[in-house]
Amino acid sequence: MSDLKRFLVPWIDRVKPYDTEDLRVAWARPELKRMMINENPIPPSEKVVQAIVEAAKMGHRYPDNGTRIRGMIAKRYDLGPENVYVSHGSSEIIDMIMRLFVTPGDEVLLPNPTFSLYGIRARSVGGNVVAVDLTADLQYDVPAMLRAVTPRTKVIIVCTPNNPSGDFISDEDLMKIVELGIPTLIDEAYLEYHPEHESKAPLIRKYNHIIVAHTFSKAYGMAGIRFGYALADETLIQYFRTMQVPWNTTLLSIAAAEAALEEEEELLRKAAYNNAGVEYVCRELIKIPGVKPYYSHGNYVLIDATDAGVTGKEIVEYVFEKAGVMIKYFAPFRGRSGFFRISLGTHEENTICVQAIKKFFENRKKEKRA
Ligand SMILES: Cc1ncc(COP(=O)(O)O)c(C=O)c1O
Repeated sequence: MSDLKRFLVPWIDRVKPYDTEDLRVAWARPELKRMMINENPIPPSEKVVQAIVEAAKMGHRYPDNGTRIRGMIAKRYDLGPENVYVSHGSSEIIDMIMRLFVTPGDEVLLPNPTFSLYGIRARSVGGNVVAVDLTADLQYDVPAMLRAVTPRTKVIIVCTPNNPSGDFISDEDLMKIVELGIPTLIDEAYLEYHPEHESKAPLIRKYNHIIVAHTFSKAYGMAGIRFGYALADETLIQYFRTMQVPWNTTLLSIAAAEAALEEEEELLRKAAYNNAGVEYVCRELIKIPGVKPYYSHGNYVLIDATDAGVTGKEIVEYVFEKAGVMIKYFAPFRGRSGFFRISLGTHEENTICVQAIKKFFENRKKEKRA
């Protein structure tokens, strides 16, 4: 047996991989309601499925780097195809940014809590994560982020709307970060749920260190198909190309994305369906004393039940046991351990989830009286 440790990168044991255990359980038990990983509950349209089937007929050929779809995407932002990099979901963009800018010991500055993959990919290249807590009302604490910048800060992450807190960063705060001149990812994974809110893509014309990322995994509902893109200055996109693994997007995923882009109405329908679910969950859960849902612009709602005297973990375990609903709890934040997140499902699933949570609190009330 070889002593692998002699050869492995020395920081490898500090990397905790992205946890996909929930997905293993969900695929093994299709009867469960999967409301734990910000998927879209509506499957791809017939048009998208047909596009995939057609593309599969050319499956013996290598794809190009998405010449046509890069043009289609660029047009939407009044940019050129040279400003667009297509990817295997936006996770690849996150990974690419770490590989391009971070060497061992460099720092990646990000908010806490946020999407866990940023930190994982930063650590995978030997980087150190500098996480700055959101404020008590779950807004970006930009003064604290600015104070946390050091000469080793190589990447800053701005997730807007932030997962899991659901709110956008203000323009004023964003510009304070942008003006630092440090490579900054503006992750707009959930923006298509609120098309009235403008993308920050125009910033890339003025700032060559800004990367705007989008995905088809959320509002477009294609998480399993894998397609995303980055918008940036042409020079930076060229560096993405230098670093990329060729054929990162498949003929099938490109065809699916092209078809989805042509179905504007379908996207709006999916967004409206989701947003009605967000309203419903917030409206119902706020009725429970001590429970605070944070209104979200994404396909999830973060809830804090600390003031009701329960932990997020207790609620998550109860709804899983009693209703077969998978939701997610979060590590204690600012001394509060009642945080959990519901990813919106179908309206029926949302109702089942809300009813189960209500039942949890009714039972507690009864137990207290007894
Ligand atoms: C903020 C954010 N960015 C990116 C992603 C990754 O999405 P994908 O790689 O499927 O595009 C997620 C997934 O949950 C996310 O929440």
